[in-house]
Amino acid sequence: MTDTVTLPDSSRRLWLTAACVTGGAGIVATSVPFVVSMAPSERARAFGAPVEVDVGPIKPGELRTVEWRGKPVWVLRRTTDMLGSLRSHDDLLSDPQSSRRGQQPDYARNDLRSLKPDITVLVAICTHLGCIPTFRPEPGAADIGASWPGGFYCPCHGSKFDFAGRVFKNVPAPSNLEVPPHHYTGESTLLIGEGPPD
Ligand code: FES
Repeated sequence: MTDTVTLPDSSRRLWLTAACVTGGAGIVATSVPFVVSMAPSERARAFGAPVEVDVGPIKPGELRTVEWRGKPVWVLRRTTDMLGSLRSHDDLLSDPQSSRRGQQPDYARNDLRSLKPDITVLVAICTHLGCIPTFRPEPGAADIGASWPGGFYCPCHGSKFDFAGRVFKNVPAPSNLEVPPHHYTGESTLLIGEGPPD
């Protein structure tokens, strides 16, 4: 039922290219190149099977991209500095408390938007028009701005998200990045696609 799919860089680039070329066509169109080439087990995964990820080997500051339901999903192990930055810029965010429903499960409606403090799990699709943001962890990046604390930057129309996927004010994206249902079935085993058992 479960197995890990780590996308090669070439796939991620293709997703980004397709998303930006199609612009407003959005998520469905960007997924087409993958769906048509999928083997039967891959199709089953695309239509909802949970995806298991071993987060143990993910180093602090490292981002992995996996596929769930035909979407790219990020798994980032945040560093101490990244966690510290999340507590310093609430006034710059549109929805710092994740008060808008539908963008995360209830168990991720906390200040870090995660079950474990260091591990964040986010659907890697911009909430504006569906491009794939880029991972830009470097604070003060010259092309983004001196006040940039690091996070995810969408190159299509300039939306910015922090290391918890919270959207900044005054950008086109209307809401935080989606946190997909997930839980841990072991110390380092993450299951994306299902929330914690009741
Ligand atoms: S798709 Fe427009 S800012 Fe991301």
